[in-house]
Parts: sequence; structure tokens; C-alpha cells
Amino acid sequence: MRVLHVLSELYPLIKTGGLADVGGALTLALQERGVDVHVLLPGYPAVMRALGASRVLFEDSNFFGGGPARILCGELVPPHLPACVLDCPGLFTRGGGPYADENGHDWPDNHRRFAALAWAGSLLAHGLDRGARPDVVHTHDWQAGLLPAYERLRQPEPRPALVHTIHNLAYTGSFDPSVLTEVALPGEAYALEGVEFYGRLSFMKAGLQYADRITTVSRTYAREIQTATHGCGFEGLLRARGADLRGIVNGIDEREWDPRRDPHLPATYDAEDLSGKAACKAALQARMRLKVQPDAPLLGVVSRLAWLKGLDLLPEAVRPALASGAQLLVLGTGEPALEGALRELAAAHPGQVAVRIGFDEALAHLIQAGSDALLVPSRVEPCGLTQLYALRYGTLPVVRRTGGLADTVVDATPAAIANGSATGVVFDEPSVAGLSDALTRTLALYAQPTVFRALLTNGMRQPVGWDAAAAEYEALYGELLATRAR
Ligand code: ADP
Ligand code: GLC
Repeated sequence: MRVLHVLSELYPLIKTGGLADVGGALTLALQERGVDVHVLLPGYPAVMRALGASRVLFEDSNFFGGGPARILCGELVPPHLPACVLDCPGLFTRGGGPYADENGHDWPDNHRRFAALAWAGSLLAHGLDRGARPDVVHTHDWQAGLLPAYERLRQPEPRPALVHTIHNLAYTGSFDPSVLTEVALPGEAYALEGVEFYGRLSFMKAGLQYADRITTVSRTYAREIQTATHGCGFEGLLRARGADLRGIVNGIDEREWDPRRDPHLPATYDAEDLSGKAACKAALQARMRLKVQPDAPLLGVVSRLAWLKGLDLLPEAVRPALASGAQLLVLGTGEPALEGALRELAAAHPGQVAVRIGFDEALAHLIQAGSDALLVPSRVEPCGLTQLYALRYGTLPVVRRTGGLADTVVDATPAAIANGSATGVVFDEPSVAGLSDALTRTLALYAQPTVFRALLTNGMRQPVGWDAAAAEYEALYGELLATRAR
């Protein structure tokens, strides 16, 4: 079975969030199961550098208005993955981030950049790389969402099976409908049963409308997005397509995230012997200029600073915990107002609160290892990976009951503590009081060392790797191909 994944991020080359982690790990997990996987990525500079010797499969002098473009196929090292790359410097070589400039403003040509990516994928889907025509094309998020539309509206039969995965529905990839011809869609596509979305043209909707199957990254989120609260306007369509929609909970890359052999840590450890974790905590406190106090509960955050993540609640909600001696450490980047509020909190509590604004992969590992609890108070969380890293690293996840957080953390109720199933603290209300109560409960658990340690070791023993999810994806591809063969 040959599967082409089309996506816009891939760890370790280009990452703004969990999509990159999934791209980098799901592909390798499928490969280990014997699936012939390759990826198509935009030719960002880091991707071009990682592409070894390659074959030129396609050339164009002005591709989607971005000037000269080529589709190159070879291998990406790291991570040792067969790959095609859309090399188009006019679209993908620029400062700033993959979707926005350094001030956080979306690139004005994003519609053409990601239409180009989808079109390149559609060429590959139709045998551009003759020996490697895919049986399944698996697209991710709005950035690849136009590909299924091209397959259904612009390309001849036969076509590969189409799977579209929603990593976060809140990012709809919506543009002014006047770009319809610029993104190479026929006029009839702009319809309720097409890409029209409340008077806009949505790339996410294209994926949801035209793919054969839709998946999302947890079971709870698969249910939530069929309701008005979480459906972001797509709930009607998703209910109508309910039979084709499946939630598959993400895993983590256990080669990258393993406290027994993590090169980013000053000491390693496992569930049997947590002493290395204490050394990580001391190193983290020292590095972040927190008071080096082994007994002060250290609350960590590693997150994009976006409203969806609920971190605007933190400065207020954490006050009682700080008053009782806890420490707080935040690594994140995002909304300027939130960055400012967190910086102020740190300035008001020297030695007790540390805030690092920026993206730092190595520090993210040390925070997972050195913290006592990891806070993920998200309003919306399709899956979430940081709570899974926390489980693996013997750090108590404190999460809101939504999406993948609800599917992966078991609240420390007295009954769950007694039967050994509890792995974290789960709260319901996305409010200052809700988060503050959860932190009070966390500190109460921390004050009972035997109970707290049992929670951590329960968490460390949870299977959070990719095996189960990769098997589910493989089964889904198989079912889809079997249905089409009939
Ligand atoms: P999302 O994709 O919505 O941001 P996830 O929990 O799925 O949420 O994935 C976030 C990923 O990005 C994790 O690997 C996390 O460690 C990482 N991350 C987020 N912010 C930072 C940061 N400031 N520095 C380093 N890593 C970060
Ligand atoms: C998105 C979601 C996050 C999920 C990640 C990987 O960025 O916000 O919850 O874990 O994709 O699927």
C-alpha cells in the first residue's frame, strides 16, 4: 500500500505545533508497519537543505503566481523519509514563519501558496512520479485541503483514495471568494455543497467536502465538532458526513520523547527510579532563575499562547498557588497581550515565576522532565501532545476536560486513585475559578508524596506511542481501498 501524506509541517524541519510532531512520527510509524509512505512538503529553506539528491519531476516558469517552481523527489534527512518537495522560492523562501510574517500577519498570498502545494500533490496523485503512484493520499488541515477538491473536480478518474485529517478546525483557511480562479477551482465549486463557507472560500471545507474519509485526532473531538460549540460552523457538514468521520488519538514519538535517553536532560530516569527527575528539576530551576527548592511544587507550561489554549486564565488563577509557595514556569509564544500579561506576572514574582517567550525545543524537553505538573487548560484541544509528553516524563498533567485531553488523562478522583487508574487532574470549567480549583487540588495531591508518586508512575506506564494509532490509520486505508475495489 502506497500512501502520500501532504502537509505543511514536519518535525524536525518545520514546526509551529503538534502537526509537525504528528507528521514526523505517524509517517515513520506507518513505515515501520510496512506501509510505503512518502510526504509532500512546501520547499521551505530547512526542507530544501534536508533534501538529498533528488529527481526533478516537474517544472513551471510561474506556478500559482510564485515564479519558477519544481517538484523534486528524494529523501529527507533527517528524518530519513522518502519525500517530494514543492521547490518554489517565490512562495516558500522568506523570513518570518510558515504562515505569517514576523509580526504575526498572515502572508497575503497564503491562498496561492497552499493551493500550489495541493496542486503539486494532485499531480503526484496522478502518477507524476510514475513508479510511485499513491493508492491513498492523506491530507492534513486546511493547508492541504484543496487537494481533494482538485481530485474530484479537476482530475480525471481513476484517482487515489482520499483521507483528510482535521488537526484543528478553528483554522478554517478562509479567503475572499474572488480568489476562486486564482486557486484553480471551477466556478461550480463555490457552492454550499462545495467550498463556500459563510460567504468565504474555505480550504478546510474543501477537504471535508471532497475527501472519502475524514479523521480527527481524538474521539472526543470527533464528537465535539459535530456540535455548534466546537464545530466552528462546519458542524452541519460534519454531522452529514458522520459515517465517514473517525477520531484517532495521536501518539508521541518515543524516540524523541523518552526520559530514559533524552539527550536534552542533565539526568535520565524511568518509572522505577525517579531520582534523575529531581536533578532535572534543580537544573531547570537554576537555568530559569527560579529559587532552587526541591520541595516547591513546580508548575510548567509549554504552549502556543493562543486564546484556545486558555492561558489567559493563568495569571489570575495561579495566584493562590503562588501564595502557597508553588513556582510557575512558562515557555510559549503567540498573542502579544498574553505574552505581556505573563511577563508582568514574572516581574512581580522574581525567583518564583519565570516566563520564556520564544520557541525552544530543547527547553520544552527540560520543562517536561523538571516540572512537577504540566498545565494544559485549553478551551479547545483537538488532541494535545504536551499532556502525553508529561505522562511519559512523570509530570502530572492538569488539563481541561475537552478533546484529546479528556481522552488521555484520567482525573485523580478518590475512586480512580484507589483503583490505580488516575493519571492527572481534569477540570471542567474554562474559567479562572475552574483552573484555580484544579491547581488547589494539584497542590493537595503534591502534599501527599506517596499518592503523588503513584499518579506519576501510573502516567509513565500509559501506552502513549504511535503503535495503536498507526494501526488504526492502516486499517482505515485498507477499508477504504477494499470498498473502492468492490
Ligand atoms: P498545538 O499543535 O495546538 O500547538 P500540541 O499540544 O498538539 O498543540 O502540540 C504542541 C507542540 O509544540 C508540542 O510538541 C510542544 O512541545 C510544542 N511547543 C509549543 N510551544 C512551544 C515553544 N514555545 N517552544 C517549544 N516547543 C513548543
Ligand atoms: C493541532 C491541535 C492539537 C493537536 C495537533 C496534532 O495543532 O491544536 O490539539 O495535538 O494538531 O494533531
